[in-house]
Amino acid sequence: MDVSRHDIVIVGGGAAGLRAAIEAAENAPTASIALVSKVYPMRSHTVSAEGGAAAIARDDDNLELHGYDTVKGSDFLADQDCIQYFVKEAPKELALLENWGCPFSRNEDGSVATRAFGGMTTKRTWYATDKIGFHMLHALFQHSMRFENIVRYDEYFVSKLLVEDGHCRGVAALDIRTGEYTTILGRAIILTTGGGGKIFPFTTNGTIKTGDGMALAYRAGVPLKDMEFVQYHPTGLPGTGILITEATRGEGGYLRNSEGERFLVEYDYGVGAKAELGPRDMISRAIVQEIEAGRGLSGPYGDYVHLDLTHIGEDKINSRLPFVRELAKTYIGVDPVTQPIPIRPVVHYMMGGVDTDIDGATQMPGLYAAGETACVSINGANRLGSNSLTECLVFGAAAARHAMDFAKGSSEGNESALRAQVEEEAGRVENLRGRKKGGEKISEIRRELNHTMETGFGVYRQQDTMQAGVIETAQLRGRVADLRLEDESKVFNTELITALELANMVEVAEVIAVSAAHRKESRGAHTCRDFTTRDDQNFLYHTMAFHDPAGPRLGKKDVVLGKWEPEERKY
Ligand code: FUM
Repeated sequence: MDVSRHDIVIVGGGAAGLRAAIEAAENAPTASIALVSKVYPMRSHTVSAEGGAAAIARDDDNLELHGYDTVKGSDFLADQDCIQYFVKEAPKELALLENWGCPFSRNEDGSVATRAFGGMTTKRTWYATDKIGFHMLHALFQHSMRFENIVRYDEYFVSKLLVEDGHCRGVAALDIRTGEYTTILGRAIILTTGGGGKIFPFTTNGTIKTGDGMALAYRAGVPLKDMEFVQYHPTGLPGTGILITEATRGEGGYLRNSEGERFLVEYDYGVGAKAELGPRDMISRAIVQEIEAGRGLSGPYGDYVHLDLTHIGEDKINSRLPFVRELAKTYIGVDPVTQPIPIRPVVHYMMGGVDTDIDGATQMPGLYAAGETACVSINGANRLGSNSLTECLVFGAAAARHAMDFAKGSSEGNESALRAQVEEEAGRVENLRGRKKGGEKISEIRRELNHTMETGFGVYRQQDTMQAGVIETAQLRGRVADLRLEDESKVFNTELITALELANMVEVAEVIAVSAAHRKESRGAHTCRDFTTRDDQNFLYHTMAFHDPAGPRLGKKDVVLGKWEPEERKY
């Protein structure tokens, strides 16, 4: 079995992973940086981001405002030291990205163009028409190729972290092309694998988003934080879940019910004067309430409301939202220039993730995390749109710097002992490949998992369905150990990879279920019908979930408060 040694091993090749790799490679030209990804980096989910990335740019904006908007958006659950660091670094990171080739849209005078996004006081979202993810990923990937000390492992699936004496010292990685395991050792490891939206049936997330990094850390004993907070984006395309960017509303789009009313203006849904530019949690709730009040529309893929861009005009749609026009025409047969787009809330993002400090360090020496995989936390109970791409850059870079410092002082692990861990892992996975004696089908477990999560952990939640979700996800965890697989081949055995991903999804789903059932209040994206108000007295803390063979064990962590006192969240 191959063994390779690096200074830093980064798992995940999207925005956070590439940014971390560049930072490490640039600061330490003699260091060796491994970038391990289960897909070719340009296929990472970052590519599908549309609306833009947040950082102050205008005269009417400042760090204080960006910070306050983000804290308020988080329903006061985010850590304020992290937010202050984030807003300060954000403009520098976006300027760097532009230097590396990201073609941000410009104003007539040549300055960077910014657009309005939900919950933000002013226009703060830098954009590249409506294809920011595509351009950002290209810029990062192309820039990363300048560094010879970045060694890529494309299409390697990491199924286990290698831990020795409580230190993370590498990963066990399955080469998907050959079906052989390899040992990749590092003095520090950074997880940047994104979130796990595929746990839910209706999601903007690509197939690859299966919570891998979260499950890897969790199984290794590192807690997951605030996993109950799952973001529903208000505007998903019925049927596919494809994102219709919030930029549509930033550019002036309206939400209308079956009566043609702009319901966010006509009814009191808490978004106040912000209307379509309210935060995502509130707008998603408003849409569900409209539908429940009988003012929704019905179609082959369920109930929906309308996103109306017809008053915006063809020129503006073509210049600012060309991708939205293309998506709506292709996937639902609607031209937004003349017709409203059917939309409904869709699972988009996980506010929770691997618990890290402001440096990206986890509780395990040598293990770091950044991006959606991590919970730093700047998003608390509800993320503001366009903060996440910037978060990937700011905290990808920070994690790399701190991981490099750690790596300098860290000893090499015991190679033969670490290799033995990989051999054991390879044996476990080999037993799974083409495992005919199992009684469970991948598709059935995934179907049940999706159903459980949608029923129990939607825009609105209630105790009985959440408790049912706790029981069902625990049962699914048991059943996933008895999978039946058909494909015995080694080369590109996608059935095997799907089985490994499914085990990750089930593990992460159980943490979401247990964490959500425990939080008996309504805060941000966690809205309970049985506990309708925010309860700072009893629940102003981060939920910590620790792995236990019997199921997640919960603990608490203080929220880092600061100058922004928790207050009623009004818009
Ligand atoms: O609507 C959007 O373009 C999504 C942006 C985000 O999630 O940050």
